[in-house]
Amino acid sequence: MDTNAKIYGDLEKILVTREQIAKAVKDMGRQLTQDFAGKEPVMICILKGASVFFTDLIREIDLPLTTEFMAVSSYGSSTKSTGVVKIVKDLDKPVTGRDVVLVEDIVDSGMTLSYLKKVFANREAASVSIVTLLDKPARRRVDLQVQYSCFNIPDAFVVGYGLDYDEKYRNLPDIGVLHPRIYTK
Ligand code: IMP
Ligand code: MG
Repeated sequence: MDTNAKIYGDLEKILVTREQIAKAVKDMGRQLTQDFAGKEPVMICILKGASVFFTDLIREIDLPLTTEFMAVSSYGSSTKSTGVVKIVKDLDKPVTGRDVVLVEDIVDSGMTLSYLKKVFANREAASVSIVTLLDKPARRRVDLQVQYSCFNIPDAFVVGYGLDYDEKYRNLPDIGVLHPRIYTK
């Protein structure tokens, strides 16, 4: 724990190490390569949280694919979902007839992705799949099918590998539980 010592000090514990992440991302890339064989999916990165996962994941997929970036807002600086989803940055190209793969950092209540699934169904995508790095099934508030998840985690607020609290900690190479003293001060 001597790299990033300053920010590691704000963690209660490390939950997923960079080695575990690297292996899971490789496995996920292999699985998607198999499942989308013969297709040319459009991989959609949900900014900003999924950005680190996304750039690692697409390099593990051995298929022709295109990338798009989309930003939605659901959280302010708080650690609880507002339930309100807004598209802050939309795609550059239409996805009509395309196999859409939404890449997320974490599924919590499920509200963000259940909203986005409807958006892409309305835009007449051929299919809509969800890939998430982390899943907190205990917190689900809507019925949402998540086909691809790297890690199920307990109900705790986590940061690192793209995930933030108040825009910080995205640069941690591992995923850790944020110490509650950081958000209860
Ligand atoms: P949902 O709509 O409740 O599923 O919220 C999903 C979004 O909330 C994720 O894309 C994250 O941006 C954010 N989020 C949920 N839980 C956490 C967490 O533990 N750490 C950081 N961000 C989180
Ligand atoms: Mg997110």
